[in-house]
Amino acid sequence: MMSSTESEHLIEKAAQIIRRSKFLIALTGAGISAESGIPTYRGSEGLWRRYRPEELATPEAFQRNPALVWEWYRWRMEIVFSAKPNPAHKALAELENIGILKCIITQNVDGLHQEAGSKCVVELHGSIRRIRCTNCNFKLHLSKPPEETLPRCPHCGSILRPDVVWFGEPLPKEEWEKALKLVGQCDCMLIVGTSGVVMPAALLPFLAKDRGAKIIEVNIEDTPITRIADISIRLKAGEALTKLVTFLKNLRD
Ligand code: OAD
Ligand code: ZN
Repeated sequence: MMSSTESEHLIEKAAQIIRRSKFLIALTGAGISAESGIPTYRGSEGLWRRYRPEELATPEAFQRNPALVWEWYRWRMEIVFSAKPNPAHKALAELENIGILKCIITQNVDGLHQEAGSKCVVELHGSIRRIRCTNCNFKLHLSKPPEETLPRCPHCGSILRPDVVWFGEPLPKEEWEKALKLVGQCDCMLIVGTSGVVMPAALLPFLAKDRGAKIIEVNIEDTPITRIADISIRLKAGEALTKLVTFLKNLRD
């Protein structure tokens, strides 16, 4: 972590860069929801029992042991459905509302950006608030985890699965294309709470950098993105983004 004067200074510089930008977008990951009580995937709290996400969030794991994968998702769903957006989600919603932020590209499946009031949200990895059939095109929006241990399709009887992207699966085409278009338009990217290691989402900061966009990172740790970042703020997302909004509002007046 940084000293508070050091971080204040960096946040002020970030606010100035954002103020001068014409098309700011955000890229978010699990770290932005950590302060809402949702465990991140990597790091010590990322383990569920003894499993890493790469062992559970795959089509092979689901085929081998759908009950186990469902148990993990039910656990995550329970946390997500009782979680509330935190000050970091709210700060991004406010930045969109006052016309500074154009859109959020998120790897998160928790829906908390939308809950916080963000309108333009591209969900690269789907949503844990939806389930879909593994066989037909049945989809269902949820407001709580399904009751059954192994939920089945009301139409064809096949097993239902969370409507999320697993390792080895392609990203939803439309969402990925939207993300690439936004990156093609942006001149500043605010990256919050992602480890920057999961492809292809991890490419986006590099694509933005290549086209000359400014890169601002908020993360409690160094990541592979840090070395291309114009500014890296080593603070929790809630504190960093709340202060950023305050600076930006002061610069506006
Ligand atoms: P990770 O769990 O890989 O990384 C979370 C990042 O957030 C880490 O770099 C932490 O240092 C940082 N972090 C933690 N708490 C924070 C806080 N309070 N404020 C700021 N930063 C904080 O999460 P993602 O990068 O989102 O994919 O992971 C990418 C994808 O891998 C996920 O979407 C998921 C996962 O497997 C799928 O489910 C397909
Ligand atoms: Zn079906």
